[in-house]
Amino acid sequence: MEKVKIGVIGCGNISNAYFTAAKKFSILEVISCADLNMETAKAKAEEHKIKAVTVEQMLADPSIDIIINLTIPKAHAEVSLKCLEAGKHVHCEKPLAVTYEEGKKVIDFAKANKLLVGCAPDTFLGGGLQTCRKLIDDGWIGRPLSGTSMFMGRGPEPWHPNPTFFYQHGGGPMLDLGPYYVTALIHLLGPAKRIIAFTGKAFNERVAGAEAIRGMKIPVEIPTHYTGVIEFCNGAQVNMVASFDVYGHGHTPIEIYGTNGSIKVPDPNGFGGQVQVKVGNNDWADVGFTHIYTDNMRSIGAADMAYAIRTGRKYRCTGELALHALEIMTGFEKAASSGKIYELQSTCEQPAPLPMDLIPGLLD
Ligand SMILES: NC(=O)c1ccc[n+]([C@@H]2O[C@H](COP(=O)([O-])OP(=O)(O)OC[C@H]3O[C@@H](n4cnc5c(N)ncnc54)[C@H](O)[C@@H]3O)[C@@H](O)[C@H]2O)c1
Repeated sequence: MEKVKIGVIGCGNISNAYFTAAKKFSILEVISCADLNMETAKAKAEEHKIKAVTVEQMLADPSIDIIINLTIPKAHAEVSLKCLEAGKHVHCEKPLAVTYEEGKKVIDFAKANKLLVGCAPDTFLGGGLQTCRKLIDDGWIGRPLSGTSMFMGRGPEPWHPNPTFFYQHGGGPMLDLGPYYVTALIHLLGPAKRIIAFTGKAFNERVAGAEAIRGMKIPVEIPTHYTGVIEFCNGAQVNMVASFDVYGHGHTPIEIYGTNGSIKVPDPNGFGGQVQVKVGNNDWADVGFTHIYTDNMRSIGAADMAYAIRTGRKYRCTGELALHALEIMTGFEKAASSGKIYELQSTCEQPAPLPMDLIPGLLD
């Protein structure tokens, strides 16, 4: 199949994971990269033997099919729209945008212009979460009834070199790590319909720990603890907590409980992990992977979209999925501040599982 040519905008921390994994998919060819800071782009270009260009040069390059947007969350919607306006398909890092309204603008523009939008996380295409999906689809736990989704930590400021944005609008535990959990839940259970929630903030100020900024005070402008229940369209009710206010806990990242058993789902911010199932009164049993891609394969979502471009088939990490996940995440704050159940306006298709017999490097 003819390769799909890729440009990457945003050459920060996460970009190496993309540059490295993209080489493993035969359909992808990353040809250039850009960043607000040209020196950053040049360094990545040299390391990965591609071209460093300005954003404008990339947008004007007719050979580029998909732009992978690895900028910071606040810039996602603006950069994605620019790419779409230039006629490019876009695959964006999570979250799609920092508000539902901004995210919807991106999706509506793409639809009107017959362009594709994809979005991270693509970790649910990994062997760990695909194995959990197969267990559910094959009926091992019966009909899913409920579950838990627990991301809790003490926040990134003890080690992160630039932690301020985590405590400003667009940051926080829900928009930072929530996308992995919410997307994994949609992958396992389908779309959701409503939410009840509360939010909290344990500290008005955080103290940075990284050497260069040690002791710097960071004002906390947003909630740092989100707790609530998501009700899915299939009837399952999942208790979710996303928090930067917790030192330690003993919960599995995600558990799903059905009429016939339960599943322990591994960390959705990864591609592999240990899957366990309990059927009826039997003990918990470890489950081997039913699917490949259990290492860091960030860019697998873009590769899946590349097949969609070449063959017209559906892809999985769609903009609609990301917009629905964004509405769920931002819906926690809306439910909490109104004191009412938040009814979701958006929906999406549950992404199809990957085939079990894939050859490494291929997705069809
Ligand atoms: N760092 C991680 O471990 C990690 C993991 C998973 C996902 N992510 C996600 O990846 C994205 C990027 O994270 P990061 O850690 O690489 O951030 P980063 O701050 O290290 O890098 C972002 C880069 O984007 C550039 N940039 C910002 N705005 C731009 C614009 N308008 N045009 C062009 N370039 C622009 C910056 O100059 C910077 O080099 C975020 O959405 C984050 O949530 C990060």
